[in-house]
Amino acid sequence: MGAGHVGGPTMAVIALKCKSIKINVVDIDPSKINAWNSENLDDLPVFEPDLKNIIAKVRNRNLFFSQNIDSAIREADMIFISVNTPIKTKGEGAGFASDLKWVESSARKIGIEAKGHTIVVEKSTLPVRTAKTIKTILENSVKESKINNITKSFSVLSNPEFLSEGNAINDLLNPDRVLIGGDNDMAINCLEQIYLEWVSKHKIIKTNLWSSELSKLSANALLAQRVSSINSISEICEATGADIKEVSLAIGSDKRIGHKFLDAGPGFGGSCFKKDILNLVYLCRYYGMDSVANYWEQVIKMNEWQQKRILKIILDKLFGTVAGKNIAILGFAFKANTNDTRESPAINLTNKLLEEGAIVSIHDPKVEKKKIVEDLKNYSEKNLDNSKNRDSTWSFTRDVFEAIENCDAIIILTEWPEYANLNWHDCVALMRSPKTIFDTRSILNEKQLKDLDVNYWRIGYGLSEKI
Ligand code: UGA
Repeated sequence: MGAGHVGGPTMAVIALKCKSIKINVVDIDPSKINAWNSENLDDLPVFEPDLKNIIAKVRNRNLFFSQNIDSAIREADMIFISVNTPIKTKGEGAGFASDLKWVESSARKIGIEAKGHTIVVEKSTLPVRTAKTIKTILENSVKESKINNITKSFSVLSNPEFLSEGNAINDLLNPDRVLIGGDNDMAINCLEQIYLEWVSKHKIIKTNLWSSELSKLSANALLAQRVSSINSISEICEATGADIKEVSLAIGSDKRIGHKFLDAGPGFGGSCFKKDILNLVYLCRYYGMDSVANYWEQVIKMNEWQQKRILKIILDKLFGTVAGKNIAILGFAFKANTNDTRESPAINLTNKLLEEGAIVSIHDPKVEKKKIVEDLKNYSEKNLDNSKNRDSTWSFTRDVFEAIENCDAIIILTEWPEYANLNWHDCVALMRSPKTIFDTRSILNEKQLKDLDVNYWRIGYGLSEKI
């Protein structure tokens, strides 16, 4: 249940590896299902390297995308709940706790429609002890069905997904670990059998339900903490003349620390880091652990600070104002190799630039314009008084040269490899003097830019600027 960034790719890989299992992926959003069924595989709703090749093999063989939720539930021996769990915007826990309405409604539907014994697997990232809610809903439906002389029963498992967007297929095919939390051995073994088709047994970790749920939240919190940590060091580098690339290399060479997740950038985005930390903070406050809550909350504050300070640097370097200036934003996705913009630092930054009167031209190789329209509109509704004529001050293009033509500044926000591979001599020639490049991902080759007529600022290295 749920045909999003987790449900779609995960089920595609299970279908690929387990030919004898028939999988129905259902969703309440018909446009999503239609997109998964698109004849043109470039129109799938999720972009992931290799995904379309897998879909081409398994779709309508043993993987089916359908809107027929009720019959899919009735048919199922095992149901994965992969629906979204956004942060609550109102009521108790607003701004911190996850809104579980989709999980709850899924559980209710399963309770009503399921037949025989059904294993229900939490796949969405959920607050700790959500399994209890699901169990309670399902137990009630068992009681009701007994009154009507229908026999049904359920086991609930937690099997969090650790795939990272842009690398989803590889993460699914070669996971570091598979985590299965539960208290029913038969159900755990059933799920384990699926993974054993391609994952070795020693990588399958079995825990109780609560450990599994908490491990998922904590893993994301620790990863996000690493990004905030390296971003905090990037500011110190800019002030002192140290270079974040050199510092990251030196730090990461310690085997205990390792090289991954030490790239300074414009702040973490994506659907889960912020949400999961907020959930953790909520949980800690609920149990009266204010010190622990404040500790984790600081990771988010640091992330917001990184975005604010980048905007300030841009304004400072552009003589204190961007009003009437042409700014090219390269990259709107929250990271490379995905068309996802959820919590992308680009949203905030673009809106701030628009608020300051800039004329913004956006390029991204994968994000759809309609997504950007939605993202900028949502923000303007929440944060801006004057949202009139917003469209006239920004534009979107798939042609990177069109985006940068006549611009005063380029801001690289997503680390798409194609930006590093551009002919920067030609790019700079298209700009308007004085020309400035802000490389918030540190992906350009400084040597190539050295002799060009352009000011180059990159994250975590104050000395590279000529301004
Ligand atoms: C993250 C986790 O990495 C996955 O394990 C997890 O399954 C997933 O969340 C989830 O819960 O759904 P994802 O959000 O797809 O995956 O992307 P990441 O690769 O973790 O990147 C998150 C953000 O951190 C991106 O904005 C990225 O640009 C940023 N980042 C990452 C950095 O700024 N520097 C780094 O060194 C690494």
